[in-house]
Amino acid sequence: MDTTSLWRATAPAAPGFAMLQTDISTDVLIVGGGITGVTLAMLLARAGRQVVLLEAGRIGSGTTGNSTGNLYVTVSEGLDSLVRRWGQDIARQVVDERRGAIDFIQLHAGSESGLRRCPMVQYAFSDSMREGIESEQKALAALGVPHRLTSAVPAPLPQARGNVLVIDDQAQFHPQAYVAQLAWQAAQAGAQIHEHTRVLEIDFKARSAATATGTVTAKEIVLATHSPKGLHPVHAQMPVHREYVLARPLGGPDPGPGIFWCQGDESLSLRTMEAGGERYLVCAGDELKTGDHNAEACLMALETNAEKQLGPGEWSHRWSAQNYRGADGLPYIGRDIRGSFIATGFSTDGLVYGTVAARVIAAQLGGHATAVFGELCKPGRLSPVKGASALLEEAGTTAKALLKDYLTHRQEQKLTSLAVGDSAIVEVEGESFAAWRAPDGELFAVSPVCTHMGCKVHWNSVETSWDCPCHGSRFSPDGTVIEGPAIAALRRKHIALATR
Ligand SMILES: Cc1cc2nc3c(=O)[nH]c(=O)nc-3n(C[C@H](O)[C@H](O)[C@H](O)COP(=O)(O)OP(=O)(O)OC[C@H]3O[C@@H](n4cnc5c(N)ncnc54)[C@H](O)[C@@H]3O)c2cc1C
Ligand code: FES
Repeated sequence: MDTTSLWRATAPAAPGFAMLQTDISTDVLIVGGGITGVTLAMLLARAGRQVVLLEAGRIGSGTTGNSTGNLYVTVSEGLDSLVRRWGQDIARQVVDERRGAIDFIQLHAGSESGLRRCPMVQYAFSDSMREGIESEQKALAALGVPHRLTSAVPAPLPQARGNVLVIDDQAQFHPQAYVAQLAWQAAQAGAQIHEHTRVLEIDFKARSAATATGTVTAKEIVLATHSPKGLHPVHAQMPVHREYVLARPLGGPDPGPGIFWCQGDESLSLRTMEAGGERYLVCAGDELKTGDHNAEACLMALETNAEKQLGPGEWSHRWSAQNYRGADGLPYIGRDIRGSFIATGFSTDGLVYGTVAARVIAAQLGGHATAVFGELCKPGRLSPVKGASALLEEAGTTAKALLKDYLTHRQEQKLTSLAVGDSAIVEVEGESFAAWRAPDGELFAVSPVCTHMGCKVHWNSVETSWDCPCHGSRFSPDGTVIEGPAIAALRRKHIALATR
């Protein structure tokens, strides 16, 4: 299945950046060219710092170019929940930081980013969710966030049950176009950017990062890789989820610009967007634990639910992306125990939090105090009470994955019985391998043991990848790392031996 996002499919063609070809040294090395890394590169270069950015794929090819492109002052878990965990003063600071980041994005967005101000609309379409909307409205009122209540929503959105909560003056854009043009702004300001340059090893003491084509030595390293690479205490604190997204040409009524969060037993996040003279409806569903669900069944369930609520139609784009949630509801931003900088735990709010993170880290690297927000989000914090349930959920998932796979072996099958398009854990000469036979018959066999911390990977049939349920590392069928904390590829099994 083609899982190219609508944004990546419709972004204006952008000239690429050359691969790194030699060993270099720099002031600041940024690993990762999503919204966090690119914004930081632009800020540092404009401040006169020498900066190198290395991106494993193309700029925006991580979560940024696979998101939904909405910019809002609130957070997906709800401000009501944030107030309960942290109190009103901190929730207000979160809103202020996020508002500042949205204004910053607007200031730097070129016309190709299609940024538009729009309302954010939250409502329940099933009675069971009405209470949540009422609590959220009370939280907004208590925090002084301007909002209004109405009762109707435009077609073709599912009909509202109870009040419809509207926060005006939010924004939405084309995330891939934005990040691509920001990368060029960074390059013009002097940042050295290299695409198709995967960091394969990091020596945090020596402050150097090795790639297949050169090593970068830096005074400071920033891991803008969405989840920090290698072993890091923060991984034990962050539940990891995938979300599926659909898009189709808008055949019927147009709800107009807006961020529509429609809460039901299965919730939908909806928006429209225009590309190449076509209007599209974009629709995201609930999040699911990475490596712990049947991807194809979940995508089909989303299609069924979306069609039930919005009417039938042909989906032209289907894709998926990953989020990492901070255990206590806040992201982790700043210098970590290894001496490098990290920016993670953004939940599904990271186009704004990634921009916040870039501004916080740029200020910290510039020696400026970042007031309370940088202190609040520092990676070393641990708030057992505020994050207790997420920590338990995460520890439970990891323990479950380790136990399920090491004590009760998944059923193994013979390699010869693996049909075209099928995947399985197969046994070859007494050893287990994660195998997939491609549609053209080619066989891929790799170790099923995740190179991050040893959990066993699970097949994702939608994206043809091996996904780790513990901390979200994902690998392509040949073992190459796609995303997550793992740095090393899954060990490959020699095909000649594997096909015996
Ligand atoms: C379905 C979905 C919808 C979302 N919608 C929204 C939304 O509407 N609004 C919002 O605010 N947030 C949204 N989010 C969250 C937001 O998209 C992310 O939090 C944000 O894009 C993260 O940006 P980033 O730059 O930190 O990471 P990424 O965009 O993932 O960038 C990290 C980059 O690092 C690179 N990288 C990784 N490893 C290496 C390596 N070893 N060497 C070199 N490069 C490497 C990757 O290739 C990648 O390009 C959504 C998330 C999901 C899952
Ligand atoms: S991602 Fe941590 S063990 Fe796989």
